[in-house]
Amino acid sequence: GQPDTRTPTGAETGAPPTAFGQQGAFLTTAQGARLRDTDHSLKAGPRGPVLLQDHHFREKITHFDHERIPERVVHARGAGAHGVFTSYGTAANLTRAGFLKEKGKQTEVFVRFSTVLGSRGSADTVRDTRGFATKFYTDEGTFDLVGNNMPVFFIQDAIKFPDIVHAAKWHPDREIPQAQSAHDTFWDFVSLHTEAQHHTMWNMSDRGIARSYRMMEGFGVHTFRLINDAGETVLVKFHWKPKLGVHSLVWEEAQLAAGVDPDYHRRDLYDAIEAGAYPEWELGLQVFPDTPEETFAGIDLLDATKIVPEELAPVQPVGKLVLNRTPTNFHAEVEQVAFHLGNLVPGIDVTNDPLLQGRLFSYLDTQLTRLAGPNFHQIPINRPHAPVNDMLRDGFHQHAVHAGVAPYKPNSLDGGNPFPAGDAENAFVEVPVTVTEAPKVRANPVSFDDHFSQVRLFWLSMSPIEKEHIIRAYTFELGKCYHQEIRERQLRCLANIDPVLCEQVAKGLGLPAPEPTIELPQAEPSPALSQVGQQWPAD
Ligand code: HEM
Repeated sequence: GQPDTRTPTGAETGAPPTAFGQQGAFLTTAQGARLRDTDHSLKAGPRGPVLLQDHHFREKITHFDHERIPERVVHARGAGAHGVFTSYGTAANLTRAGFLKEKGKQTEVFVRFSTVLGSRGSADTVRDTRGFATKFYTDEGTFDLVGNNMPVFFIQDAIKFPDIVHAAKWHPDREIPQAQSAHDTFWDFVSLHTEAQHHTMWNMSDRGIARSYRMMEGFGVHTFRLINDAGETVLVKFHWKPKLGVHSLVWEEAQLAAGVDPDYHRRDLYDAIEAGAYPEWELGLQVFPDTPEETFAGIDLLDATKIVPEELAPVQPVGKLVLNRTPTNFHAEVEQVAFHLGNLVPGIDVTNDPLLQGRLFSYLDTQLTRLAGPNFHQIPINRPHAPVNDMLRDGFHQHAVHAGVAPYKPNSLDGGNPFPAGDAENAFVEVPVTVTEAPKVRANPVSFDDHFSQVRLFWLSMSPIEKEHIIRAYTFELGKCYHQEIRERQLRCLANIDPVLCEQVAKGLGLPAPEPTIELPQAEPSPALSQVGQQWPAD
């Protein structure tokens, strides 16, 4: 008999929510004493000073004074929705995770979409990466897929995360601007740390200005390891494909919308779901053999700045996500939800991607501060829908009243050993991957040194109009940099990506186009390339 610990939304019964604090017909204090007046403080006569003994006044104001919690250090601005994930059963040969394995199995989910760089009150339509984080409340425990709408990341090693975020968030002196606009520090960072060039071009492309959260792809970015019932493993990348297709705003629309309706994406998601136009995505997997090299077609699967082209590894659909319920309370659900890459279920495991490894530390750590202590897994939106039986005790905001005297195992007083025979089949067990005998070093694999070839691949895959938008975006954003040496350094990066791109942006900035410092692959200029040269920028 585990108690039902889920969010009491009333959705199942159609009844209105009866959250703690909203019971009974009368207004009360937080202690349940019925109130007669909440509009006047207790004074020494109608014109007298307010009395310190007014405990209702102090309770009301004190609680108000503490209503805000810190915003997320990144991804502060977001919107969320509840939904259902239905498995196609097509991953049954790849993973033992029940929510993916069993055909037709339904799992409740909560998704939070976000921008990365702006504060909680910032505009939705800025040029930025978008977060796409999904909490699967599976009956084997909670699985979090904490992804973005772009398949690559700025850095290869999590130790550089504070650096890229310091460079990309507001200037320390004026606290402006946000996102990639008008930003010397951002361009300084990405032109010095050239591994960031791939993600930067995704940001400069139309993908950086999504039209709607409903029209974005999602990517787990890292490579994960799946294990099936037979103990066999594969390496995979997770993909979300939106039913409505991928659509973007044009830059002028995005700028106007940021002023006219800064809540554009938040409103769009809420309105669509309330109108019954439930957004849908297919979850898919790119599947790679689990070899000791952890590469596929020469691409290092542990390098989060690289994709594996879908032509080489097609995305195989494994299930469908439908978002069908808006939050009842934004703070309780969208603000308090806490995602973590360590929230894994049997059948899904991590790899040694150094960015993923660092994230495994960072999310729980930041949430200890953001959600004030170690018990935020008890907040309704974060409660698993699987039975929980842990030995975690006490701490700030402890809501459970734990019985028993022996929160340690094995014990001879309270149920003894929690791991009876047979448990291993149902438990989360790390894949016993061999850890290579190697010296301790602060170094990357050599394959991580290629910073430009996939950026070129991305550029060459664009249509003429998409290329034009990319050139305009680089020209606009670099045009806002105060420091000429930063613009010139970024132009040298563009020269290593593509001569036409570099020439056109240089022309727009009124600067000479530099020569590449690496050897570019010989490729005939495609019609798309030569057209771009004629179209933009106009002389
Ligand atoms: C938050 C994605 C890299 C630290 C988030 C969120 C997403 C996300 C979607 C918002 C979660 C929400 O809606 O609540 C990613 C992706 C990454 C990445 C796809 C790379 C592939 C990193 C790295 C670090 C990091 C390398 C640190 C080493 C954080 C922190 C938060 C966050 C501290 C705030 C979490 C909270 O306050 O609950 N990230 N991130 N991220 N990320 Fe990342």
